[in-house]
Amino acid sequence: MSETASPSAPAYSGPRRILSGIQASGALHLGNYLGALKRFTQLQDQGAPCFLFVADLHAITVWQDPNLLAAQTREIAAAYLASGLDPAKSVIFPQSAVRAHSELAWIFNCVARLGWLDRMTQFKEKSGKHKERSSVGLYTYPVLQAADILLYKATEVPTGEDQKQHLELTRDIAAKFNGDFGVPGFFPLPEPLTQGPAPRVMSLRDGTAKMSKSDPSDASRINLTDDADVIAGKIRKSKTDMGVMPEPGESLDARPEVRNLLTIYAALSDRSRDDVTAEFAGQGFGAFKPKLADLAVESLAPVTAEMRRLMADPAEIDRVLKDGADRAAAVADATVAEVKDVVGFWKG
Ligand code: TRP
Repeated sequence: MSETASPSAPAYSGPRRILSGIQASGALHLGNYLGALKRFTQLQDQGAPCFLFVADLHAITVWQDPNLLAAQTREIAAAYLASGLDPAKSVIFPQSAVRAHSELAWIFNCVARLGWLDRMTQFKEKSGKHKERSSVGLYTYPVLQAADILLYKATEVPTGEDQKQHLELTRDIAAKFNGDFGVPGFFPLPEPLTQGPAPRVMSLRDGTAKMSKSDPSDASRINLTDDADVIAGKIRKSKTDMGVMPEPGESLDARPEVRNLLTIYAALSDRSRDDVTAEFAGQGFGAFKPKLADLAVESLAPVTAEMRRLMADPAEIDRVLKDGADRAAAVADATVAEVKDVVGFWKG
């Protein structure tokens, strides 16, 4: 896709850095926990610095109630902390508090090509039938995402499969910038890390649809704010089929709900799906579901309890976010200063 990357351009030689973001647009669920939060805590302990932010600039690409936005931002921050992310090791901050995100996004708007954005499938899905009534921000959303990543010269981005196309765009922008301005190796070409404990957690009501906060049925998802009884009830009522638990090696292509429950069990218990399948083979769902419910309650209870404690103490969250924003800005502002120099802007 890239027009200017040359195969002989020297590669980026800076340090390894990990970055990811979660949109500040409301309730988090088990899919976010297994696909993102749990994964981030594992990466945090590998030694490379992690930058984790709350994507509130991305959230306003669709309408957000001004009375709720700051609380939504704190809720994501609380989830980061409750999942085990340590603000002494990882930089946790709100995107809008670091103005360099908006600044670099504008410059990248002038690097990215219309044709590249026209191919973005997430925009097509989110704008639906009324493209002309979508915000311009929704269209240029992936360019802001590229700025988020490249401001920190991140080399790895843990994210869902659905974000792979945005990562490709980020690499195209990085390569075109490096090429157009004659600064080979200035920006890294970041890699997506899509292998989580359970990269795709599906709806409890439909094993072919992703677990989602926008699903009208609350029974389709386990929210990180659900209490133990609600979690157990949703698992008990989750959709299965007429069969029993599968044998090892059996194809689950026609049994997406059963596959999903096994995936969740494996991810929560840090085991492989094959291992869990072998344990429950031939049993009825009546035996399996209560065990899954216990496991889910036991794994999520400490996280949800800590989230509730933090949400009741916004001042503690705000201290973390303010400190994170200062540390993030120190890195991001330095990149923007370099970029402005490369682009040739006036400096007094
Ligand atoms: N678009 C991402 C999502 O919806 C959120 C996001 C914004 C992000 N900026 C990012 C993820 C930068 C990774 C890196 O999941």
